[in-house]
Amino acid sequence: MTIRTISWDDTGGPDGRGVLRLLDQTLLPSRTEDRVVRDVDGLVAAIEELAVRGAPALGVAGAMGVLVALDQAEREGWGEERLQAEIDRVRHARPTAVNLAWGVDAVRPLLAQGREAVLAAARRVAAEDEAANRELSRRAADWLLARMDRDRVRVLTHCNAGVLAASAWGTALGVVRELQARGRLEVVYADETRPLLQGARLTAWELAAEGVEHRVQVDGAAASTVLRGLVDCAVVGADRVAANGDVANKIGTLAVGLACREAGIPLLVAAPWSTVDLTMADGDGIEIEERSGEEVTTVAGRRVAPEESAGFNPAFDVTPARFVSAVATERGVVEPAGGAVMSDLS
Ligand code: MRU
Repeated sequence: MTIRTISWDDTGGPDGRGVLRLLDQTLLPSRTEDRVVRDVDGLVAAIEELAVRGAPALGVAGAMGVLVALDQAEREGWGEERLQAEIDRVRHARPTAVNLAWGVDAVRPLLAQGREAVLAAARRVAAEDEAANRELSRRAADWLLARMDRDRVRVLTHCNAGVLAASAWGTALGVVRELQARGRLEVVYADETRPLLQGARLTAWELAAEGVEHRVQVDGAAASTVLRGLVDCAVVGADRVAANGDVANKIGTLAVGLACREAGIPLLVAAPWSTVDLTMADGDGIEIEERSGEEVTTVAGRRVAPEESAGFNPAFDVTPARFVSAVATERGVVEPAGGAVMSDLS
């Protein structure tokens, strides 16, 4: 099955210039339906609602967002100031994944060269993301297999860092795909990833589609699964990697890292270089998105906590570098727990 997470469709649009198509991840796995984005309001809503999500996919959304804004500016006669302000709305739609701002910043300077240059640059961001993910997956699998004494590896993963979180291939699930292709994968334990269930809904959907042996477990089972010796490693993605190797990723990743450290198994972070933020010395400066408490007090739209109870909903946590065995990027593998820093690769 070919999944198209995010793409520019040249054929649609109010003025025949094309539209942005997103596979609407709020509907998966029960419905596979595209959301068509025609303007900045639509894109900001899609990002906030997590119709498009995952750090590398947000990078592509940011890049394509410049084009969405440009087309709307020409349609509605915006001046330069309004255009830049609308692009900034896209850039700031979610704070934690650095890729969103990175994608906008990669394309925005091309505005002066005209629409064709902007479209080409946005498409380049998507193509380069796929190439980066494939390369980092190869490097990560090499790193992992060199440390495994089993023929086939048992992997725990958290959230969704697959095709759906990227333009193609995926990061943590890219590593899983690489292990599967090499005949070296036994099973994947996918944390369900409350509150929005990216693991149960999205990771499981991707693994099922590819016939990968997997189990979905509640987040509370992860530490026990690790300490019972049911997995050989944890492989996760990242939303932002600080210069010292601290890693911001979906809430619950820190608990997985603590368990891996206690069990003496690797926590491998798979992320393209676009997720590395060398301006951030360590994880203390990373803004953690806090989402509506209602996502916690409800399940699938139904209230489960008493009406009087408020939810607490930080969407990400920061795993300190000392718990991060390796960060695999397309440039190479860094071992923060061993004292290496991300700039070793720059
Ligand atoms: O809130 P989300 O679904 O955008 O969070 C995504 C994650 O935390 C992923 O694990 C991370 O972005 C890595 S994506 C390759």
